[in-house]
Amino acid sequence: MTSEFKEIEAFAKENNVPIIRPLSREILINKLQSVNPKTILEVGTAIGFSGSLMLAETRDSTLTTIEIDENSFNIAKNNFKKMGVSDRVTQILGDATEVIEGLKQKFDFIFLDGPKSQYVKQLPFLIDLLNTGGILLADNVLFMGKVLSGEYPKHKHRTMIFKLRQFIAEVQADKRLKSEIVDIEDGLLIAHKISD
Ligand SMILES: C[S@@+](CC[C@H](N)C(=O)[O-])C[C@H]1O[C@@H](n2cnc3c(N)ncnc32)[C@H](O)[C@@H]1O
Repeated sequence: MTSEFKEIEAFAKENNVPIIRPLSREILINKLQSVNPKTILEVGTAIGFSGSLMLAETRDSTLTTIEIDENSFNIAKNNFKKMGVSDRVTQILGDATEVIEGLKQKFDFIFLDGPKSQYVKQLPFLIDLLNTGGILLADNVLFMGKVLSGEYPKHKHRTMIFKLRQFIAEVQADKRLKSEIVDIEDGLLIAHKISD
């Protein structure tokens, strides 16, 4: 990792900004390179760490990335500039669940890393936005192992855990997708779009 990435990572740590974890990064990079995407969509920019990483690891790709928090949006803008990738990025400030409904462009790769409770609602739109042959990779789908544990969740996270279970079930039931779950860190779901 270059010193610029290390700087963004250190900033994230100091400021409690959740960014993609090290093992998940490796898988993200591996899957990205298998698709060699021209167009990438990211839900949840935060401060631009994963966005910059995806652009650094692919050639000739462009990134559309959505963030609801204005402060993070502005920090990401600066970081994209520092990383020399601004000309490949379209940043959108807004609620991703609303924004994706209006997107017209299609994508070869989608990194879903926004609010977990919205994954299931966003899924039908994301499947439509994904080109056949592309990959949807969702982070944090296992929520500290609680999603697939089979136990009845405690009140605090119950709704989110139910919604993540529903998200996984809907991905697995969709004939257009071939999916796998990788049980590392907070859990990744990788879905290949195999047909329209
Ligand atoms: C886990 S962080 C993203 C980390 C980033 N992808 C990375 O690895 O560098 C999730 C981000 O989603 C943003 N977010 C939360 N709700 C959102 C929404 N409804 N629409 C768009 N972004 C949202 C949060 O503000 C936060 O910055």
